[in-house]
Amino acid sequence: MDAHAKGSASELAQGLVDARARTLALISDLADEQLMGPRLPIANPLLWEIGHVAWFQEKWVLRHRGKAGPIREDADALYDSIAIAHDTRWDLPLPSREETLAYMQKVMNRIIERLGSIDLDREESYFHYLALFHEDMHDEAFTYTRQILGYRFRPV
Ligand SMILES: [Fe+2]
Repeated sequence: MDAHAKGSASELAQGLVDARARTLALISDLADEQLMGPRLPIANPLLWEIGHVAWFQEKWVLRHRGKAGPIREDADALYDSIAIAHDTRWDLPLPSREETLAYMQKVMNRIIERLGSIDLDREESYFHYLALFHEDMHDEAFTYTRQILGYRFRPV
């Protein structure tokens, strides 16, 4: 890996960490009931949505590019937004907040560890930025979901 690619990998890792910090800041003050929230056609249950963010990263970076097996055997059945109709996401046997956060952290750790050893070529960059911008997009969704549901932000 040359110096330029290494710098890019480091910037990418920092971007992923920053996006994750934002995700966690947007949900960490909420009670467990608020993480599920009411069934609405224009919002997702937040507990599902944070797991989906990690699943998307795992699917495209670790599984698709890295050829790794799934971290959770049930992840596709829980978090695949193409396969799981929006209205049914409240009925899934979702892992607890703690389990979901642990899954998210595990995916992040493996991605960052892998970034230190791969050649960050165009295709690898594409899928990492896809995962990063997907999390950013969901951070916007977490923000509007909080607004829709009247979850006030508290200063930290
Ligand atoms: Fe998504």
